[in-house]
Amino acid sequence: MARDPARPALAGLVPYEPGKPVEEVQRELGLARVVKLASNEGQFGPFPAAVEALERGIGELNRYPDGGAYRLVTRLAERHGVEPENVAVAAGADAVVNYLSLAVLDPGDEVVCGWPSFPSYVLDALKMGATPVRVPLADHRYDVEAILAAVTERTKIAYLCNPNNPTGTMIARAEVDTFLERVPARVLTVLDEAYFEYVDEPDYPDGIEEHVKAGRNVLVLRTFSKIFGLAGLRVGYGIGPREVVDAVKKVRNAFDVTQPAQDAAVASLDDPDEVVRRRRLNAEARARLVEACEELGLTVATPAVANFAYAEVGEDARPVFEALLREGVIVRPLGPFGAPGAIRVTVGTLEETELFAEAFRRVAATAAAPARR
Ligand SMILES: Cc1ncc(COP(=O)(O)O)c(C=O)c1O
Repeated sequence: MARDPARPALAGLVPYEPGKPVEEVQRELGLARVVKLASNEGQFGPFPAAVEALERGIGELNRYPDGGAYRLVTRLAERHGVEPENVAVAAGADAVVNYLSLAVLDPGDEVVCGWPSFPSYVLDALKMGATPVRVPLADHRYDVEAILAAVTERTKIAYLCNPNNPTGTMIARAEVDTFLERVPARVLTVLDEAYFEYVDEPDYPDGIEEHVKAGRNVLVLRTFSKIFGLAGLRVGYGIGPREVVDAVKKVRNAFDVTQPAQDAAVASLDDPDEVVRRRRLNAEARARLVEACEELGLTVATPAVANFAYAEVGEDARPVFEALLREGVIVRPLGPFGAPGAIRVTVGTLEETELFAEAFRRVAATAAAPARR
């Protein structure tokens, strides 16, 4: 019989549990329509120019991709006003976190992040035998002072998820400034700005402009998975000091970002009007989603500034998740993010938001029914 060949560091980890495909949920539960609001994808598809680029490239799929992602790296460098040496592209911002952890962390090292937050910071540290230090959020927000207090001699990476997934709240400019003034320079701070394009708040800092360009030991993460509608292709990037980018490049798989992903990403960069349009539509639907959650009596983390809302539904969110699923609405129960009593709902269209609210009302009425009898 085969034995578990995994390193001891992996003993506490479980394989990623994927949700069922939408069609399967639909078939199993006999539902006419299923609305997926579970993964914080953008609600719109790829930009028209990206679709054209994908169509143009299809006949070349016998070729390996450009391993250096030359055009994409060059375009991103131009766009952000940095050198190509400051740009690390990978198969999603998630892969940048993974590669960074592989490149930087030895057993016994520490990473520090807020919690609940993006699970990869923790999982990728554990995979390396490093210790994740999870600092509780304060009022659904990253608590910058508490994170500073948790930094030790062993801390290699500090993650600031801005806005934070899953709470959707942001860390204001002054707090990020304070953090970076006080954190020891040897600690690499990762500003995860996966939802950057959705945020329209004057106090929201741009980590590339304000910190990378000021020469701080900061890596900023961005992605094409959200507003650009390319989650299925897997392409994201980090912008930071050359040494950090080189470390990522040392461990990155040679053909990590597929050619269609590179081409679609490049083609997405020339349509600022579409970004603005999507940001506006997202803000409208987000306001309605937050309002609907509040009407339903849920505690919502506010202000929500990205494309999702975090709502507390009781002790254990699993039964609510399952009941909503039976109604054809898929949301994310947040146990794996460290919030077992909360769900995260992605901003969809206004119509999808109404469907969520109606489904939740029916679920709540059914749950309350026995008590009334
Ligand atoms: C905070 C945060 N960082 C990174 C990612 C990863 O994005 P990508 O699809 O580029 O891997 C996500 C995705 O949901 C996220 O929420």
